[in-house]
Amino acid sequence: MEKSCKQIEYTNNISVENYNALRKAVNWISVNEKRAAIALKNSFYLCVAVCDGNPVGMARIVSDGGYTYFITDVIVHPDYQGYHIGTELITRVLDYIEKDVLDGETIMISLMAAYNRESFYERFGFHTRPFGNHGSGMSMWFSRDINGKVTPL
Ligand SMILES: CC(C)(COP(=O)(O)OP(=O)(O)OC[C@H]1O[C@@H](n2cnc3c(N)ncnc32)[C@H](O)[C@@H]1OP(=O)(O)O)[C@@H](O)C(=O)NCCC(=O)NCCS
Repeated sequence: MEKSCKQIEYTNNISVENYNALRKAVNWISVNEKRAAIALKNSFYLCVAVCDGNPVGMARIVSDGGYTYFITDVIVHPDYQGYHIGTELITRVLDYIEKDVLDGETIMISLMAAYNRESFYERFGFHTRPFGNHGSGMSMWFSRDINGKVTPL
Protein backbone atom coordinates (compact mmCIF):
# COMPACT_ATOMS: atom_id res chain seq x y z
CA MET A 1 0.00 0.00 0.00
CA GLU A 2 1.06 3.53 -0.88
CA LYS A 3 2.65 5.71 1.82
CA SER A 4 2.98 4.51 5.39
CA CYS A 5 -0.29 2.76 6.15
CA LYS A 6 -0.39 -1.00 5.88
CA GLN A 7 -4.13 -1.19 5.94
CA ILE A 8 -6.92 1.14 4.94
CA GLU A 9 -9.74 1.39 7.47
CA TYR A 10 -13.28 2.35 6.59
CA THR A 11 -15.38 4.67 8.74
CA ASN A 12 -18.63 6.56 8.38
CA ASN A 13 -17.67 10.12 9.17
CA ILE A 14 -15.53 12.95 7.87
CA SER A 15 -15.08 16.57 8.94
CA VAL A 16 -16.07 19.44 6.67
CA GLU A 17 -12.42 20.42 6.52
CA ASN A 18 -11.27 16.98 5.40
CA TYR A 19 -14.19 16.71 2.97
CA ASN A 20 -13.14 19.92 1.25
CA ALA A 21 -9.48 18.86 1.34
CA LEU A 22 -10.38 15.68 -0.55
CA ARG A 23 -12.42 17.71 -3.05
CA LYS A 24 -9.50 20.09 -3.53
CA ALA A 25 -7.10 17.19 -4.08
CA VAL A 26 -9.10 16.16 -7.17
CA ASN A 27 -9.64 19.77 -8.33
CA TRP A 28 -13.31 19.97 -7.40
CA ILE A 29 -14.80 23.23 -6.15
CA SER A 30 -14.94 23.76 -2.41
CA VAL A 31 -18.41 23.58 -0.80
CA ASN A 32 -19.12 26.36 1.68
CA GLU A 33 -18.85 25.20 5.28
CA LYS A 34 -22.51 25.47 6.15
CA ARG A 35 -23.65 23.62 3.03
CA ALA A 36 -20.94 20.99 3.41
CA ALA A 37 -21.99 20.29 7.00
CA ILE A 38 -25.63 19.90 5.94
CA ALA A 39 -24.66 17.69 3.01
CA LEU A 40 -22.56 15.34 5.13
CA LYS A 41 -25.11 15.19 7.95
CA ASN A 42 -27.95 14.39 5.56
CA SER A 43 -26.07 11.63 3.77
CA PHE A 44 -28.08 8.42 3.70
CA TYR A 45 -24.80 6.55 3.92
CA LEU A 46 -21.24 7.82 4.06
CA CYS A 47 -18.14 5.67 3.64
CA VAL A 48 -14.67 7.09 4.26
CA ALA A 49 -11.32 5.36 3.60
CA VAL A 50 -8.77 6.26 6.29
CA CYS A 51 -5.00 5.81 6.23
CA ASP A 52 -3.16 6.44 9.53
CA GLY A 53 -6.02 8.61 10.74
CA ASN A 54 -6.22 10.63 7.53
CA PRO A 55 -9.18 10.40 5.16
CA VAL A 56 -7.88 9.39 1.72
CA GLY A 57 -11.15 8.53 0.00
CA MET A 58 -14.90 8.75 0.34
CA ALA A 59 -18.24 8.00 -1.28
CA ARG A 60 -21.73 8.76 -0.13
CA ILE A 61 -25.35 8.03 -0.91
CA VAL A 62 -28.09 10.63 -0.93
CA SER A 63 -31.54 9.04 -0.82
CA ASP A 64 -35.22 9.66 -0.14
CA GLY A 65 -35.11 6.34 1.71
CA GLY A 66 -37.75 5.00 -0.64
CA TYR A 67 -37.15 4.68 -4.32
CA THR A 68 -34.13 6.80 -5.26
CA TYR A 69 -30.48 6.32 -4.30
CA PHE A 70 -27.92 8.74 -5.68
CA ILE A 71 -24.19 8.02 -5.32
CA THR A 72 -22.08 11.16 -5.09
CA ASP A 73 -18.73 12.54 -3.89
CA VAL A 74 -16.76 9.49 -5.00
CA ILE A 75 -13.19 10.61 -4.40
CA VAL A 76 -9.84 8.89 -3.87
CA HIS A 77 -6.89 11.17 -3.13
CA PRO A 78 -4.51 11.09 -6.14
CA ASP A 79 -1.68 9.68 -3.96
CA TYR A 80 -3.87 6.66 -3.21
CA GLN A 81 -5.54 6.08 -6.58
CA GLY A 82 -5.03 2.76 -8.33
CA TYR A 83 -5.01 0.69 -5.11
CA HIS A 84 -8.65 -0.37 -5.39
CA ILE A 85 -9.86 2.00 -2.69
CA GLY A 86 -12.44 3.37 -5.13
CA THR A 87 -13.59 -0.17 -5.84
CA GLU A 88 -13.92 -0.91 -2.11
CA LEU A 89 -15.88 2.31 -1.55
CA ILE A 90 -18.37 1.57 -4.33
CA THR A 91 -18.65 -2.06 -3.20
CA ARG A 92 -19.52 -0.93 0.34
CA VAL A 93 -22.01 1.64 -0.95
CA LEU A 94 -23.73 -0.97 -3.14
CA ASP A 95 -23.72 -3.53 -0.28
CA TYR A 96 -25.46 -0.97 1.91
CA ILE A 97 -28.15 -0.40 -0.72
CA GLU A 98 -28.52 -4.13 -1.33
CA LYS A 99 -29.24 -4.70 2.37
CA ASP A 100 -31.78 -1.87 2.28
CA VAL A 101 -33.83 -3.44 -0.52
CA LEU A 102 -36.22 -6.23 0.38
CA ASP A 103 -37.35 -9.21 -1.69
CA GLY A 104 -39.74 -8.11 -4.44
CA GLU A 105 -38.68 -4.45 -4.36
CA THR A 106 -37.13 -2.45 -7.23
CA ILE A 107 -35.26 0.79 -6.73
CA MET A 108 -33.13 3.13 -8.86
CA ILE A 109 -29.44 3.81 -8.21
CA SER A 110 -27.99 6.69 -10.20
CA LEU A 111 -24.84 8.77 -10.35
CA MET A 112 -23.23 11.38 -12.54
CA ALA A 113 -19.91 10.03 -13.79
CA ALA A 114 -17.15 12.58 -14.16
CA TYR A 115 -15.77 12.93 -17.70
CA ASN A 116 -14.31 9.62 -18.90
CA ARG A 117 -14.98 7.83 -15.59
CA GLU A 118 -17.84 5.76 -17.02
CA SER A 119 -15.84 2.53 -17.37
CA PHE A 120 -14.93 2.64 -13.66
CA TYR A 121 -18.65 2.35 -12.83
CA GLU A 122 -19.66 0.00 -15.64
CA ARG A 123 -17.81 -2.85 -13.93
CA PHE A 124 -20.35 -2.61 -11.09
CA GLY A 125 -23.29 -2.89 -13.48
CA PHE A 126 -24.04 0.77 -14.17
CA HIS A 127 -25.14 1.64 -17.71
CA THR A 128 -23.64 4.60 -19.49
CA ARG A 129 -26.53 6.76 -20.66
CA PRO A 130 -28.13 7.15 -23.13
CA PHE A 131 -29.19 3.53 -23.48
CA GLY A 132 -32.53 1.92 -24.35
CA ASN A 133 -35.25 4.44 -23.60
CA HIS A 134 -33.03 6.30 -21.10
CA GLY A 135 -31.75 9.71 -22.21
CA SER A 136 -28.48 11.29 -21.12
CA GLY A 137 -28.18 12.35 -17.50
CA MET A 138 -28.52 16.10 -17.10
CA SER A 139 -27.14 18.57 -14.60
CA MET A 140 -26.62 22.28 -14.09
CA TRP A 141 -24.41 24.35 -11.80
CA PHE A 142 -26.36 27.13 -10.13
CA SER A 143 -24.51 30.06 -8.54
CA ARG A 144 -25.61 33.22 -6.75
CA ASP A 145 -22.78 35.76 -6.71
CA ILE A 146 -22.08 38.21 -3.87
CA ASN A 147 -24.31 40.80 -5.58
CA GLY A 148 -27.24 38.41 -5.63
CA LYS A 149 -27.06 37.67 -9.33
CA VAL A 150 -28.11 34.12 -10.10
CA THR A 151 -26.34 32.31 -12.91
CA PRO A 152 -26.98 28.80 -14.20
CA LEU A 153 -23.59 27.52 -15.42
C1 LIG B 1 -12.40 7.43 -10.08
C2 LIG B 1 -11.69 7.11 -8.76
C3 LIG B 1 -12.67 7.24 -7.61
C4 LIG B 1 -11.17 5.65 -8.85
O1 LIG B 1 -10.57 5.33 -7.59
P1 LIG B 1 -9.34 4.32 -7.50
O2 LIG B 1 -9.19 3.90 -6.09
O3 LIG B 1 -8.16 4.93 -8.15
O4 LIG B 1 -9.86 3.13 -8.41
P2 LIG B 1 -9.48 1.60 -8.26
O5 LIG B 1 -8.05 1.46 -7.89
O6 LIG B 1 -10.48 0.95 -7.38
O7 LIG B 1 -9.69 1.14 -9.76
C5 LIG B 1 -10.48 0.03 -10.06
C6 LIG B 1 -10.42 -0.22 -11.52
O8 LIG B 1 -11.00 0.89 -12.21
C7 LIG B 1 -10.07 1.38 -13.14
N1 LIG B 1 -10.11 2.83 -13.09
C8 LIG B 1 -9.58 3.62 -12.13
N2 LIG B 1 -9.78 4.92 -12.44
C9 LIG B 1 -10.43 4.92 -13.61
C10 LIG B 1 -10.88 5.95 -14.46
N3 LIG B 1 -10.68 7.24 -14.17
N4 LIG B 1 -11.52 5.61 -15.60
C11 LIG B 1 -11.68 4.31 -15.91
N5 LIG B 1 -11.27 3.28 -15.16
C12 LIG B 1 -10.64 3.59 -14.03
C13 LIG B 1 -8.71 0.90 -12.71
O9 LIG B 1 -7.86 0.73 -13.83
C14 LIG B 1 -8.99 -0.39 -12.02
O10 LIG B 1 -8.97 -1.45 -12.94
P3 LIG B 1 -8.33 -2.89 -12.53
O11 LIG B 1 -9.20 -3.43 -11.42
O12 LIG B 1 -8.45 -3.67 -13.79
O13 LIG B 1 -6.94 -2.61 -12.07
C15 LIG B 1 -10.46 8.02 -8.55
O14 LIG B 1 -9.65 7.95 -9.69
C16 LIG B 1 -10.80 9.48 -8.28
O15 LIG B 1 -11.08 9.87 -7.17
N6 LIG B 1 -10.75 10.32 -9.33
C17 LIG B 1 -10.96 11.76 -9.17
C18 LIG B 1 -12.36 12.11 -8.73
C19 LIG B 1 -13.39 11.48 -9.63
O16 LIG B 1 -13.35 11.61 -10.85
N7 LIG B 1 -14.36 10.79 -9.01
C20 LIG B 1 -15.44 10.13 -9.72
C21 LIG B 1 -16.53 11.09 -9.89
S1 LIG B 1 -17.89 10.40 -10.73
